[in-house]
Amino acid sequence: MTGKSTAVVGLQWGDEGKGKIVDVLAREHAAVVRYNGGANAGHSVVVNGERYALHLVPSGILFPGVKAVIGNGVVVDPEVLLAEIDNLEVRGVDTSGLVISSRAHVVMPYHKLEDRTREAAADSDGRKIGTTGRGIGPAYADKAQRFGAVRVCDLLDRDRLRRRVSEAARLKAGFLPAGAEELNVDALVDKAAAQGERLRHRVSDTTYLLNEIIDSGGRLLFEGANATLLDVDHGTYPFVTASNATVLGIGPGAGVSPTCIGRVLGVAKAYSTRVGSGPLPTEQNNDIGNRIRERGREYGTTTGRPRRVGWIDLVALRYSVMVNRVSALCVTLLDVLSGLDELKLCVAYRMGERVTDCFIPDGEELGKVEPVYETLPGFSHDITSARSMDELPGPARAYLDRIRSFAGIPIGLVSVGPERSQTISTGVARELESATA
Ligand code: GDP
Ligand code: IMO
Ligand code: MG
Repeated sequence: MTGKSTAVVGLQWGDEGKGKIVDVLAREHAAVVRYNGGANAGHSVVVNGERYALHLVPSGILFPGVKAVIGNGVVVDPEVLLAEIDNLEVRGVDTSGLVISSRAHVVMPYHKLEDRTREAAADSDGRKIGTTGRGIGPAYADKAQRFGAVRVCDLLDRDRLRRRVSEAARLKAGFLPAGAEELNVDALVDKAAAQGERLRHRVSDTTYLLNEIIDSGGRLLFEGANATLLDVDHGTYPFVTASNATVLGIGPGAGVSPTCIGRVLGVAKAYSTRVGSGPLPTEQNNDIGNRIRERGREYGTTTGRPRRVGWIDLVALRYSVMVNRVSALCVTLLDVLSGLDELKLCVAYRMGERVTDCFIPDGEELGKVEPVYETLPGFSHDITSARSMDELPGPARAYLDRIRSFAGIPIGLVSVGPERSQTISTGVARELESATA
């Protein structure tokens, strides 16, 4: 378990299968750490036919002995977190390794109301983001504003909690519906304080905890939530989430220096999906898109919304590889593409006369591009039981090879089904691990 830490990050618009990849790698690490986002994330892990949908609890929770750490950069909704803990315990999962940063900010009921109210207002002028409605943007806005924000440590001190909540209620009364139950200070304080009591034994200074693990030779596994093209700074703004969902968020979100990270594994689906508004240049609003959606069960883990579907966008992928300095790719859901006659890969964007192979991280400009495709033959075999690259049909290998050559980095893992066991390792991820040990 000694050596440098690992980062797992989504390279597209989310739901790439980060939860599955984290689960595959977790046992080699001392702790799995969430550093960004909140309950907008929905990470599914399938073990022996049992499906776990995790929103706030790091995916390492399924391994006893591996700590599951919610870092300071996460916005924690105590209601969702406690329900998730209860659900895991009912299913026999040991949650004693779950630790929460005392400095993580709290998503309060009024943040969720604010999220919904803003989205409803934005709908009329076409500026709706299509958020998950989990209060993520408003909670991060309050953190940046430093007025009325509630942190996990405040849940443990009733007087402090009341001061923070009163400030927030005063501030928000100006734009939230008058008389909303979400602004009733007494009720908010009672509920949040009770939630704090249930979480108290899990709360600590996770910056010390994580750096102590590193000092004693342990390796951390950072579990990115959301994804690169949803990153507030590097994604398709304004159609993004409110945090740094790239590896760049690890420093501020976990209190761990980037010098501790030895390998960055970038997770990409074999095609593209997106939930909510914003450009998806390769979108297929047709039979192919519908077929991929059904085969891939492309419905949101958090909201159940149907995901928009398109061909793989290699221009976007190479941009994400650059931003995160990805060491190796994990290509997921390859099995979903079986049965298609041909496979298209976007290798450039056309805008009028101009053709570029540079990504455009802007919600409006990216909406104007036409994808330029290469086409490769499809494959018809069921590949869900393949466990080595040799067992994949030639066209599937050729497809992966084109992704590898365009991205300019090796493929470490290929996922051919949701189960932990449905994974092909090329050996690259392990070589990278030994190189940084
Ligand atoms: P995350 O948010 O990146 O963790 O991804 P999600 O869990 O939201 O969505 C990925 C979905 O694909 C989940 O339902 C997974 O169980 C499933 N999945 C992951 N890898 C594979 C794969 O290789 N093949 C198939 N068919 N499903 C997969
Ligand atoms: P995981 O970790 C897919 C999207 C939302 C919306 C935008 C802003 O499961 O990959 P927010 O609620 O964050 O303010 O919504 O970002 N979004 C995700 N889409 N997977 C996610 O997480 C997402 N997290 C946020 O759909 O378009
Ligand atoms: Mg998801």
